[in-house]
Amino acid sequence: MAACLGMQAQALSFESGRFRKGDDPAWSAPAFDDSSWQEVSFDQSWEDLVDNANGYGWYRIHVVIPSSLRKGTVQAVMLDLGAIDDSDRTWLNGHPVGSNGTFPEDPGGYCSEYGSRRHYVVDPKWVNWDRDNVIAVRVYNYGDPGGFYRGAAKIVKPGLKDFATLSLVAEGGGYKAVLAASVKTAGSLHVTVTDVLSGKVEMDRTQKVTVPAWTEKNLSFALAPQKRISVSYTDPRYEEVLKAEVCSPYILTPPAPDMPRYNGPLVFGVRPGSPVIFRLAFSGEKPMKYAVEGLPDGVVLDPEKGVLSGSCAVEGDYPLVLTATNSKGSASAAFTLKVGEDMIGLTPPMGWNSWNCWALSVSQDKVMASASALIERGLADYGYSYMNIDDAWEADERTPDGRIGANEKFPDMKALGDWLHSNGLKFGIYSSPGDHTCGGYLGSLDHERQDAEVWNSWGVDYLKYDWCGYSKVFDAGRDKSEAAFIRPYLKMQQYLREQPRDIFYSLCQYGWGRVWEWGAFIDANSWRTSHDIQDTWESLYVTGFERQVGLHPYSAPGHWNDPDMLIVGKVGWSSSLRDSRLTPDEQYTHISLWSLLAANMLIGCDLSQIDDFTFNLLCNNEVNAVNQDVLGHQAHQDVVEDGMQIWSRDLSDGSYAVGIFNLNESSVPVRLDGALAKIDMEADIVRDLWRQKDIPTAAEYLIPPHGVLYVKINMK
Ligand code: GLA
Repeated sequence: MAACLGMQAQALSFESGRFRKGDDPAWSAPAFDDSSWQEVSFDQSWEDLVDNANGYGWYRIHVVIPSSLRKGTVQAVMLDLGAIDDSDRTWLNGHPVGSNGTFPEDPGGYCSEYGSRRHYVVDPKWVNWDRDNVIAVRVYNYGDPGGFYRGAAKIVKPGLKDFATLSLVAEGGGYKAVLAASVKTAGSLHVTVTDVLSGKVEMDRTQKVTVPAWTEKNLSFALAPQKRISVSYTDPRYEEVLKAEVCSPYILTPPAPDMPRYNGPLVFGVRPGSPVIFRLAFSGEKPMKYAVEGLPDGVVLDPEKGVLSGSCAVEGDYPLVLTATNSKGSASAAFTLKVGEDMIGLTPPMGWNSWNCWALSVSQDKVMASASALIERGLADYGYSYMNIDDAWEADERTPDGRIGANEKFPDMKALGDWLHSNGLKFGIYSSPGDHTCGGYLGSLDHERQDAEVWNSWGVDYLKYDWCGYSKVFDAGRDKSEAAFIRPYLKMQQYLREQPRDIFYSLCQYGWGRVWEWGAFIDANSWRTSHDIQDTWESLYVTGFERQVGLHPYSAPGHWNDPDMLIVGKVGWSSSLRDSRLTPDEQYTHISLWSLLAANMLIGCDLSQIDDFTFNLLCNNEVNAVNQDVLGHQAHQDVVEDGMQIWSRDLSDGSYAVGIFNLNESSVPVRLDGALAKIDMEADIVRDLWRQKDIPTAAEYLIPPHGVLYVKINMK
């Protein structure tokens, strides 16, 4: 019997169907007798229906599709099945109409797509108009609730965006625009090619295109360096416009001069008696000779490497002059060495972390390769100094006396620490307050003091302490108060601070329990504000924009909000790496935002493979100077309007840094005098930080999709 349907003009909705746990290919056939199957509603998850919700199950939905749905612009219909936990394959009257996710027996194995909406456009010839139709849905569930969710399923008339896609696909040095449609469409394709640096439009062409149903049309273009290709497609029957855009990487940061230039922070803090580890960050032609005036007793300089070491027992602010000299000239910078309690991380940490590239495949060799590149490729000349090993360094078991050790991939942690320190770099490590880490390795639970002592013996300068396995302890306890979130972090804090060296304390618990409100009180130096970042625009948006709103009051020297590690360069979370999936404009947005947010600047890519574009992103001294500004004021969101956002922060020299971000899918022209008026600033000199040049306010600037205009403003 056909299900009873809610029918609007252009849509049919249904809230229930028949369900059976198990798996049989015969269940896709329309004639199959499913009368004994259970009648279920689409808001019932498998957990409510069966004992074991894992595995396969099928839905069969009987529905009369009225021929009135055939009328109108297109004859096709679309199944809108909502979201399904986890993977599905769907048939209409025995004809496959689409799938999302993959199944365990598929090549490559099971992959969930529980968050995607199931929109399946159906060829009208498979529909039994005004008669019974059978929609059969094969589902595989792993873990969570299982099955249909997000309310009623529907049959609707598809819009242009439902049945057609426009994309730009890389092809032999250029790109091809691919217009694919499952319903016939005829319309206009508009192409522009723009030079990104000059803004000059080099091609502007419109052509008529017809794509028969279930086919695609390809149009090829060469993509030269620093060019942006924008394509859009319109079919006069629809208001919707399909758009796609690609841009080749383009370099804005001017090359550093050959003569020395100081690019590092203007302050460094250390506790009395703790080792000083600081590398003077001067770019310019090597070799260089370094000199420092005003060093306190106990702190010494290696004049060849430019590395400060030793320690200072007496509290105080020591004004120093740092100087570097090479064959082209000499440069100096005024700097303060601060010796006292609560002096760790006076500017956001800059460095590298292994996770976003190597994840669990990290090894000592890989860390060394990135550390060597940090020095040789010159990133250390811009203040990057922490080399942090994330998860997967831990041995399988503790020694009988409970001591933690490294696994076979890390033959000598102490030697690694010594080598890093001898180059003025700092050494970071990772653990969890639980008995295991996120990657399933040993955590520090009930061994906190011992672990802190071991790390001290290796020369560790940074601990990322990741909640993960602690959920087991937390869930088992009755206390769910803020104190319960704080407890494991406070415990480790105590042991870290007992060590005779400064260990930057980085909390990683994804922003739970409003950590920004208490992080500084337990002397944490930074705390993650969100779940793990990924190299997608969606992830960047949530982590960098959405989750940062209102957090600026909690950021201050020594205590930073941490929106997670950088996702530029070659990343991959595995032993095989690929280029970041962010577009060049998104990468400029990413680094500008992290600079504004006074965020931890931990590079997540393999530095031994760093390319010129990524170097340009990470080593712009004016952009980094905002991140490292000694005031430590995180930017606040000032304007949200028409897909644009403006964030600004005040700086120690009385100026402001302002990011004007375009979150739209296409370029937006912005007048600076108009945009800046909205944040109540009367600009005197406006400096484009990426291009490092002053620019007029009474002019219009085209901000690319997901891109930014990042400026520094000196007030009148
Ligand atoms: C969590 C953290 C990541 C990384 C992994 C390691 O997911 O948020 O940054 O440290 O654990 O397993």
